[in-house]
Amino acid sequence: MTSLQHDVIILGSGLAGLRAAIEAARNPELDVAIVSKVQLMRSHSVCAEGGTAAVMQPEEGDSFELHAWDTVRGADFLCDQDVVMRFVKEAPKEILLLEHWGIPWSRRPDGRIAQRPFGGHSFDRAVFAADKTGFAEMQTLYDTLQKYNNVTRYDECYVTSIFIKDRVFCGITVWDLTTGDFFFIQGKSLVIATGGACRMFGFTTYSLTATGDGMAMAYRAGLPIKDLEFVQFHPTGLVPSGILITEAARGEGGYLLNNKGERFMQNYAPSKLEVAPRDIVSRSEITEIEEGRGFTGPDGLDYVHLDLRHLGATKINERLPMIREVAIKFNFIDPIYEPIPVRPAAHYFMGGIHTDIEGATPVEGIWAAGEAACVSLHGANRLGSNSTTECLVWGKIAGNNAAKHAQKQKAFPTIPPEADLKNEETRIFGRFSPDNKESAYALRRELQRTMDKNVGVFRTAEGLNTALRRIQEIKQCLASIRVTDNGRVYNTELLSALEVENLVDLAEVITVGALARTESRGAHSRRDFPQRDDVNWLKHTLAYYSHEGPKLEYIPVKITLWQPVERKY
Ligand code: FUM
Repeated sequence: MTSLQHDVIILGSGLAGLRAAIEAARNPELDVAIVSKVQLMRSHSVCAEGGTAAVMQPEEGDSFELHAWDTVRGADFLCDQDVVMRFVKEAPKEILLLEHWGIPWSRRPDGRIAQRPFGGHSFDRAVFAADKTGFAEMQTLYDTLQKYNNVTRYDECYVTSIFIKDRVFCGITVWDLTTGDFFFIQGKSLVIATGGACRMFGFTTYSLTATGDGMAMAYRAGLPIKDLEFVQFHPTGLVPSGILITEAARGEGGYLLNNKGERFMQNYAPSKLEVAPRDIVSRSEITEIEEGRGFTGPDGLDYVHLDLRHLGATKINERLPMIREVAIKFNFIDPIYEPIPVRPAAHYFMGGIHTDIEGATPVEGIWAAGEAACVSLHGANRLGSNSTTECLVWGKIAGNNAAKHAQKQKAFPTIPPEADLKNEETRIFGRFSPDNKESAYALRRELQRTMDKNVGVFRTAEGLNTALRRIQEIKQCLASIRVTDNGRVYNTELLSALEVENLVDLAEVITVGALARTESRGAHSRRDFPQRDDVNWLKHTLAYYSHEGPKLEYIPVKITLWQPVERKY
């Protein structure tokens, strides 16, 4: 099998991946590769809308301590506080770096970088580029990347497995979707930055491509997955498509209204109202709907209203142009004149591949960054606008560490035996017969129905057990997936089969972790265990792969400054 070599391999081309690639490429002697299953500017990060949190105006009252405290409290105390402090201190540097690289940040009238309110933050802290922040950041990183001629891009290349020998990274196997070639890339360092996997839910803000491939591959290769039971539901997914209606709409002053026209957040978070943390707003919306104060939507997608009319056309057009366009194009609703139908949509994984504060995984030579990783910044609930910042901060940290590691290695690790690589090729191309009976699309749909119904905003043992049984049944069916296209070029039928396997493995990790965690904390809300239980559950979950299913272990949370207190808004 063809074998290529790159010193540093970046898996994933979203914000964290590009930031890591730039950091590694700053070392001209290093040969860097970015491998992504999509074309670079189609990475899901381009969909990030509302903002990137950072302390930019200390003279106006913001501070690192305040940003850190907001993050810790928002996380329901499950974050590592040393990680949070590092994050808040690095964040403004990344904002200014992007500024120097030419990003068109929105501005105040005096020309300074503008910031807007976001949920759970006690200061207007989200730096933004209208409501296309992720797109502007991606474009800026992409432009900057052009300066480096030591970066090779493998766009539309799907990685099938990560190879590790004696707890040291060796390389990856790659299926080039554009040519059908299958080859090995040997590497000294790997940064996994492949995002989350919310596509296991049916109602989600995620792109179709966000199927947790890197996370699932890492899990199967033996890396622990941390805190995956904590799934964030964004309060304003557009009904029925699930497209994100940015939290910035509420940050700019939008109201959430029930079917009586009441701003119901007054009853749930009287001081923060619509800009309370997402877990609280999502639970409030579901409670309103369940108690009969919502609106009837299609396919059970009952909803509440997001009302922007009082903001006026000028503000909507200047600050929220994309969500207006989305509402008009997808729902034939112009938010200048009508409220938008919204409900909680699966949006983000607080958990991911376990890393330390340096972004390092327990395997030598492998780092992870962004949503694929869990550095323990967001704990049980992430604050809006902290994730794009995290991608930049830990993209840089992981990229830098991966580069340093690669520089220190005199030689590449050994290539796995040819037989192992051939087995991998057969596992990918020889497994799914055209005569099999299962459809990958139907299995994915069934997984989504199961997760939507049983592993959502509110959870119970009964629902989680039902989900687990169903996930395990789906898992049994994976071996019988039918793939009728026997070509290798753009075989999206085969790709879908591989993606659904990844989703199923990660869905099992979420569900097993959620069943075990008999408390309510942040986004993990158990109706049968409604209280937070710091005595027994102030700890991180680690899930390890086994053929029988995830094996759980627990590690302590790092508390440096703030002991847990009741979380009230
Ligand atoms: O609502 C939003 O714009 C999403 C931001 C985030 O998830 O941080």
